[in-house]
Amino acid sequence: MENKSQEKFLIKGLGGKKVLRGEIPVNGAKNAALKAFAASILFKDDVVLKNVPDIEDIFRVVDILSDVGVRVEKIRNKTFKCNAQNLSKTDLDERMAKCLRASIVLTGPMLARKGKVSFPHPGGCVIGARPVDLFLDGFRKMGASVEEKKGKYVVSAKGGLRGATIFFKNQTVTGTENFMMAGVLAKGKTIIKNAALEPEIEHLAKFLNSCGAEIAGAGTHTIEISGTGGKPLSARGKFYTTMPDRIEAESFLILAALAGKDVKITQCNPEHFESLTEILRDMGVTIKIEKNAVRVLACKNSTLKAMDIKTHEYPGFPTDIQAPMTVLLTQAKGESMVFETIFEGRLNYVEELVRMGADIKTMDTHRIMIKGPKSLKGKKLESPDLRAGLAFVIAGIVAKGQSLIHNVYNIDRGYEKVEERLKEIGVDIERVSSN
Ligand code: EPU
Repeated sequence: MENKSQEKFLIKGLGGKKVLRGEIPVNGAKNAALKAFAASILFKDDVVLKNVPDIEDIFRVVDILSDVGVRVEKIRNKTFKCNAQNLSKTDLDERMAKCLRASIVLTGPMLARKGKVSFPHPGGCVIGARPVDLFLDGFRKMGASVEEKKGKYVVSAKGGLRGATIFFKNQTVTGTENFMMAGVLAKGKTIIKNAALEPEIEHLAKFLNSCGAEIAGAGTHTIEISGTGGKPLSARGKFYTTMPDRIEAESFLILAALAGKDVKITQCNPEHFESLTEILRDMGVTIKIEKNAVRVLACKNSTLKAMDIKTHEYPGFPTDIQAPMTVLLTQAKGESMVFETIFEGRLNYVEELVRMGADIKTMDTHRIMIKGPKSLKGKKLESPDLRAGLAFVIAGIVAKGQSLIHNVYNIDRGYEKVEERLKEIGVDIERVSSN
């Protein structure tokens, strides 16, 4: 990990030319697969997970699970087998859990299975405060006691979790997944109100239901789970196949809108990113939706139109694609406003784009104003978080001259060997180490 963090991407920019062409495949979704690993804790037997992306966040969750006694084996390329029969520890290692926010989704399944869990405040991308109050409140509602001891949350539910009605005051993705999984092994009925709608949630529910869970309403704002009263699930004869990563597809779509001559993004589900395709079409991008693919074609004399963007829970415009979108808006004609409504620290990449030549004014911690088009110049950049890191890669490709993106580890957390796939469509990008 330390060596990896010293790797960089060296990009020779296209200086605004639209020349990329070819096909670029989308991998399995990070934010789906991570939750499937957590779900393995609910099972009494082997759970096989397929189409798992080869990314750092997956390696980290495997480390955490192995540390608590879950046997995790990579049995083939992109395929893992997990078995939680010997889950012994209920204390999440502080250093490991702080590496990624998704460590929080292990807590519900562990508490449901073992009646106890302790964990530190989770880490992950620094994009805001990222509180866990909704998790702690939900655990209490399900009959658990919550204490804070030596910087860790210690949660116990002697005799198991009880079904409860949990209303989320903010729609939370990992919160919805966590309590959906906890509810599966709880005693009685759990009702989650104001649940998040992200497609990864329904995908997880379908898999759990195929293995005997009783979850109704996933994909709507009210989810009802009839718990087994502690009896673990069985995955015999069933396996989980990770759905395509909609955020990765959207990132490639934005790159294609900026620098594509004819780019086809394959192995994706275009129904999962309609908010982006609608906006891109309104901006003047030519998009063809195909089955499991989307194609972007450059038009002659096409000038992108400015657009106001407001991030929103699914199916609205995703916060995870806000930074790449800002790069696109620097090339659109006129004034665009970006309003980040979900996280308060997700605009901290803006100064770097300004250094590249973008005209962006920060209005407050949630809003920026972009005037375009402005040509960007290649620079040395430091990837601040996963999604902003990919935004810098896109900016480097569009810019004139050479860019060096430091801290590629942050990009590897969510995008599998992205440079290899980008090369295939004509991007001049190399992974270099510092020495
Ligand atoms: N919130 C609370 N209290 C809580 C939990 C959340 O107030 O206990 C608030 C947050 O502060 C935020 C809002 O609820 O304002 C929504 O946050 P959410 O809980 O939905 O975010 P998350 O579950 O931590 C997941 C993804 C993020 C993605 C967000 C929003 C995973 C592992 N992470 O985070 O993905 O940005 O949903 O869609 O699924 C990424 O992949 O780069 C990433 C950051």
